[in-house]
Amino acid sequence: EKLYDYVIIGSGLFGSVFAHEMTKRGKKCLVIEKRSHAYGNLFCEKIENINVHKYGAHIFHTSDESIWSYVNQFVKFNNFVNSPLINYQNELYNLPFNMNTFYKLWGTVSPQDAKAVIADQIANLNFTKATNLEEQAQLLVGTDIYNMFIKGYTEKQWGKRPSLLPASIIKRIPVRFTYNNNYFDDHYQGIPIGGYNALMEKFLNGIDLRLNCDYFSDRTYFESLGKKLVFTGKIDQFFNYKFGVLEYRSLRFENKILPIENFQGNAVVNYTDANIPFTRIYEHKHFEFGSQPSTVITKEYPISSSTDREPYYPINDSLNMTIFNQYKEVSKDFPNVIFGGRLAEYKYYDMHQVIGSALTKMKHELKLAYV
Ligand code: FDA
Repeated sequence: EKLYDYVIIGSGLFGSVFAHEMTKRGKKCLVIEKRSHAYGNLFCEKIENINVHKYGAHIFHTSDESIWSYVNQFVKFNNFVNSPLINYQNELYNLPFNMNTFYKLWGTVSPQDAKAVIADQIANLNFTKATNLEEQAQLLVGTDIYNMFIKGYTEKQWGKRPSLLPASIIKRIPVRFTYNNNYFDDHYQGIPIGGYNALMEKFLNGIDLRLNCDYFSDRTYFESLGKKLVFTGKIDQFFNYKFGVLEYRSLRFENKILPIENFQGNAVVNYTDANIPFTRIYEHKHFEFGSQPSTVITKEYPISSSTDREPYYPINDSLNMTIFNQYKEVSKDFPNVIFGGRLAEYKYYDMHQVIGSALTKMKHELKLAYV
């Protein structure tokens, strides 16, 4: 007789929600985590009594009423609204591109005038079809927005000139003709009160958890502990990279504690100039309206991925997707393994989508029509 119904590899959002829901329904779960801490990329480290987002800034947002009420059963959320700024050559502009941005750029007061400036810039381009990202972006928003806000930022993110990147990377660039700096269009957003650890702690409460355990260090042993496996790690690694390595873009974070109360007056400031090596500075206390005497800031530097770096953004181009689809196909031969989450599905997932996916897979597993 096996000790556990489910051995869950990974204590991120997918693994934790799945474990919580199964445990609630009388199943025995064990969560295995290779890091020295739980909670996956939602983990926050307390520094100077400030919750520092260790794996990049996380803002919860959704328009799905059921997901919003689901998470609110566990913690309440604050009323943080993401309204990032752009710093370009020491001038500040609002994001997403909206009437405040256009007013600062061109002095245009009415939406008609701002639309006319953009239309004029597009009409003056000497091409009408995009063969690369640079052309695609200019056809969508004109030359000023592209040159000041997109060109350098994209070059830093991808480590390649936009003229050498495929047009398909950018399908649309959101432009708004209202004075609204709220980055997300979703109905609900916020940060869990007490931080993300407070939410994740609720999911994993009472569930057996082993930290510093890499599933790949002893697959046979970990598999022997349970009837079924839930795998939220990298799918290419699960299959020993037999069809090839799936590529990711990675990030490097540089944290600084500053002995001042307020560094930049906003949670997120993007740096779009190609001459500045980082893409963003977060000031963590502003996610939770903190009033601590000091502050912690993080500079975010994009780097390319390799198998020993943190995988952050999947590169879902046709080459990688061809490889992924082969892994997906062979995974069907493993009925006792549930593959879930961003690494096993090789997919950029927002938090609300991961929760939705974990609940769906849990219901499917238990053949439930409703939760
Ligand atoms: P996650 O990566 O969190 O968890 C997987 C876990 O498995 C990790 O803890 C890992 O250590 C563990 N693991 C892997 N292999 C293992 C092995 N072999 N053995 C044991 N353990 C193993 N979303 C959003 O809604 N709003 C936002 O603002 C952001 N911001 C954001 C910024 C950045 C930079 C990124 C990269 C992503 C976001 N996201 C986001 C997305 C969000 O991070 C994502 O939806 C969740 O973290 C996904 O949770 P998972 O459980 O799928 O993966």
